[in-house]
Formats: sequence, C-alpha cells, structure tokens
Amino acid sequence: MILVLNGPNLNLLGRREPDVYGRATLADLEAACVETGRDLGVDVVCRQSNHEGQLIDWLHGAADEGATGIVLNPGGYTHTSVALRDAIAGIDTPVVEVHLSNVHAREGFRRRSLTAGVCVGSVAGLGVAGYGLALRYLLQEL
Ligand code: DQA
Repeated sequence: MILVLNGPNLNLLGRREPDVYGRATLADLEAACVETGRDLGVDVVCRQSNHEGQLIDWLHGAADEGATGIVLNPGGYTHTSVALRDAIAGIDTPVVEVHLSNVHAREGFRRRSLTAGVCVGSVAGLGVAGYGLALRYLLQEL
C-alpha cells in the first residue's frame, strides 16, 4: 500500500488560486492516484489534513499500516516545519515530496524546502501528473 498525504489548504483545490494550482479538485487528484495505483497493482490510500500534528501521526503510523512508500505534499509546511522534517527523517518508509506548482518560479520563500532534504526526491510544477510519477517511482524504482 502507498499513502498519499496532502497538507494544509489542499482541500480547497479546484477553487483555490486556480491559475496556480489548476482546476482539478482534491477528489479528482485522489481518484487519479487510486487509478494509477490500480494500473500498477497497488492499493493507494489518500488523506488530507490542515493540521501539522495529524500529518506527523500519519507519517509515524505509515509502516504499521502496511505502507511501503509515501507521496507527500506538505503544502505551506514545506517551508516552515522542522517538526514535519524530523518526522520524515525519523521513519524508514521512503517519502517523495510533491508540489503541484513550480515552487522555484514563485515567491523566494517557496524555494526553500525544510522537508525535501529528508525525502528520497521531489517533483514540482507538474500538477496532478507529479503524483503519478512519484507513485511510479516508489513502486518501480525502490
Ligand atoms: C504547494 C506549494 C506550497 O508553496 C504552497 O504553500 C501549497 C501548495 C504546491 O502543491 O504547489 O500549499 O505545496
């Protein structure tokens, strides 16, 4: 099983700054991830939370739930959360960081990720397709 975790404000996808994040809703994004999982023969479980501690609890519990990899979009916590970074560093389950938008082409503060350095890799700017690439990588390359 692969976990797909989306962080704060991603519940608003589709109506949140659509010029930046696109028109796909969170439900569309999650359906696409489950579909990719079906193609690859793996269960994909999707969750979203606006709460840092909840994301940390899911990361800690991932292995016990049977997850072999995690796709994580930490949203704004990417740029601020030492606690989320420590949670990723503290587990053995590989995490791939994903951003819908190209964080390198936006405000300067989005160029710094506290979490990317403890992930196996990251994808940014490829929209919903980035999640599919991350899922494929976790399944086929690791
Ligand atoms: C985001 C990029 C972050 O900078 C922002 O805070 C988000 C979404 C993305 O998917 O592009 O909430 O993670």
